[in-house]
Amino acid sequence: MLRDDRFETIEVIPITGSLGAEIRGVDLVDGDDDVVSEVRRALDEYHVLAVRDQKLDAERLHRVARRFGPFSGNPVHTPMDGFDDIVRFVREPDDTGKVIGEEWHMDLAWLEKPPGITMLFGEVVPPVGGDTCFTSLEKVYDSLSPRMVELLSGLTGMHSGRGVFAVNAIQKRLPLTANMEAVENTVVEHPVICEHPVTGRKYVFVSGVLTHFKGMTEDESRPIRDFLMARAIRPEFNCRLRWEPNTLGMWNNPYVLHTAINDYPGYRRVMYRSTVEGAVPRAAAA
Ligand SMILES: [Fe+2]
Repeated sequence: MLRDDRFETIEVIPITGSLGAEIRGVDLVDGDDDVVSEVRRALDEYHVLAVRDQKLDAERLHRVARRFGPFSGNPVHTPMDGFDDIVRFVREPDDTGKVIGEEWHMDLAWLEKPPGITMLFGEVVPPVGGDTCFTSLEKVYDSLSPRMVELLSGLTGMHSGRGVFAVNAIQKRLPLTANMEAVENTVVEHPVICEHPVTGRKYVFVSGVLTHFKGMTEDESRPIRDFLMARAIRPEFNCRLRWEPNTLGMWNNPYVLHTAINDYPGYRRVMYRSTVEGAVPRAAAA
């Protein structure tokens, strides 16, 4: 098993050749600030982390999340009692239909500042199934021809909150906020070709809520958007996070897409989620 020797104080084990790593040997609640810095460095490198052996609950997740930065806000979901920054997602064994997050997406991509980090902790995880799948938007960029990058560099994506409530409302156990109208009417511009503020690596900012490109119609935009989404979900750009008990999953939200796998009927799954404030996506230098 490959261990990344660029990290000495924490154990970093890559999950695939494209993105994702398992982290062992850290205590994010009581560990010192150097541990948090190293995990953040691993996150910038791998974008998706499965931090194993974390004994968390809502209060401890709150403390861990706030060590990585202020809460991003969440205009869609009602938080848990006592914690403004934590949402509890519950799937009971006899629940049917889609699971939350079943389509490939980026969390809150239609905000001016989409969350920089999403954290998910499994209070109850199925013994098998219920993985979360991720894909790297940096690998999508790397896979494009120079001419395609040039074309996309001239485009601005329009990301809309339209339909977000409808997608969430089919989850009968998920309490939603009263902001429906504001969310439905939110449209935000993001450059299509962006760069990571720390690593400088370029990525394609695309998600399912990109309705059209600025100055173009939805009909004109859809083939380009669909091409990028199809490119993004190619398996060689993916990793799969398996939720063992005591796993804290965290991801660099704007640099990946993710999808919840609906393959655990008959099992209960209870997750706590918190998000960390991100930056306004930055257009890549030409
Ligand atoms: Fe999500």
